[in-house]
Amino acid sequence: MKIAVIGTGYVGLVTAVCLADMGHTVVGTDVAPEKIDMANRGTPHIYEPGLEELLKKNLKKGNLTFVHDLDEAIQSSDILFVCVNTPQREDGSADMVYVEGVARRIAENLNSYKVVVEKSTVPVKTSMWIKKTIDSHKKSDVKFDVASNPEFLREGSAVSDFLNPDRIVIGVETEKARDLLVKIYQKFEDRLLVTNIDTAELIKHSSNSFLALKISYINLISELCEKTEADVEQVARGMGLDPRIGGQFLGAGLGYGGSCFPKDIRALSKIGEDLGVRFDLLKEADRINLRRIDVFMDKVKESLWIVKEKVIAVLGLSFKPETDDIREAPSIKVINRLLQEGASLRLYDPQAMGNVKEIFPEKPQQVYYAKSPYDAADNANALLLITEWEEFKELDLNKIKGLLANPVIVDGRNIYEPSRMRELGFEYYSIGRK
Ligand code: NAD
Ligand code: UDX
Repeated sequence: MKIAVIGTGYVGLVTAVCLADMGHTVVGTDVAPEKIDMANRGTPHIYEPGLEELLKKNLKKGNLTFVHDLDEAIQSSDILFVCVNTPQREDGSADMVYVEGVARRIAENLNSYKVVVEKSTVPVKTSMWIKKTIDSHKKSDVKFDVASNPEFLREGSAVSDFLNPDRIVIGVETEKARDLLVKIYQKFEDRLLVTNIDTAELIKHSSNSFLALKISYINLISELCEKTEADVEQVARGMGLDPRIGGQFLGAGLGYGGSCFPKDIRALSKIGEDLGVRFDLLKEADRINLRRIDVFMDKVKESLWIVKEKVIAVLGLSFKPETDDIREAPSIKVINRLLQEGASLRLYDPQAMGNVKEIFPEKPQQVYYAKSPYDAADNANALLLITEWEEFKELDLNKIKGLLANPVIVDGRNIYEPSRMRELGFEYYSIGRK
């Protein structure tokens, strides 16, 4: 059995490498030639802990290759994992143009029975469209199956998530496709959930939207905490101790970003509406999330009064720790607002500065990329904490205080203890607690 992974972005590259590590023969392909060239050199085009090591190991083993030619990858494989992007369209729906393009190419290259596996996050009923597309473009009567195998990995822990999954969801409609996919994931036999395809597709969108709901819920509670003497961290702890609720994804702060939650919650709303089911619940979660930037900016203004001409250190630019990904990162929105207000910024992130530079190039008096968190803090009127990288939790806060022009910290992720910060002499603002 040979596997092709089509689209080697954040999900595809991890999928290709991990499937190869599980012992399968895998070929990865992508329309972006530089991603293929880098992968063949053993250098991932993204930062993801553990990925480079595993990529090199499996390239060396010889069961992992990357090719530029999509046709070649399709023709030489039995199972095709489609991992292309499904970005948001203006109306909130998922843009399926790349999935459709791949389906057509599969049809043109259908030289033997193949299982076309949706790994990209797609709206329920997508498999029907993929099937129709392949059927109407294929040149022979070779058989194929479509299946769904949604991916649940998180960026920053993608490799370990893939290799130690909570569950593997497989949506199929034939025994043959079922057997082939079960064989691929034999190692995780105890964690397999086999369903029909609509169900598998919906499990993915429902999971992501539910997690996003949870985050917006605690963020809404944090707004109430700010009007009272309640502490959102303790409220979250108290809630999370109930196993029916669970303690994860109750972190109040700047809200969720990234390439999944913001678009997936909108795509589920939209497909729901298209099928006659109202999803105002998700729309409100989205509104709460968008409001987080205003809440944070209000704190910045409360701390500085006038932002114009202030020097501001910004720590953490990636949408979450342990990744270089800045898609829908709260940092981008905050930076835009600060620049509009006329601030001068000293930015620092352990991995994402290269990506942010493409949006905000370095510019004297406006945007400076610092060499360290301490360099960022140097002579700044305030320090803003946007992403909770471990290294920020371990900063020498006395040193930071000495470097700042004013000892002001606005913490958008609640990584420090308010009482300790006061003891150290900071004017400290955080989320949903005093
Ligand atoms: P990405 O943009 O990083 O990667 C997609 C890749 O597909 C790109 O490299 C692009 O060049 C390539 N591509 C586009 N059209 C192609 C074609 N015709 N042939 C070959 N390659 C093509 O996106 P991603 O973050 O990897 O997400 C991919 C899918 O997985 C999305 O549907 C996303 O919602 C879903 N997903 C993402 C995550 C995540 O954490 N990023 C987790 C689970 C699921
Ligand atoms: C998410 C899902 O978790 C994963 O299962 C799916 O496959 C892809 O989408 P990811 O976007 O990589 O993964 O990161 P995640 O850890 O879920 O964080 C998403 C966003 O939510 C981040 O911006 C993070 O800062 C935010 N978040 C997370 C909170 O604001 N509070 C929390 O308590 C948890």
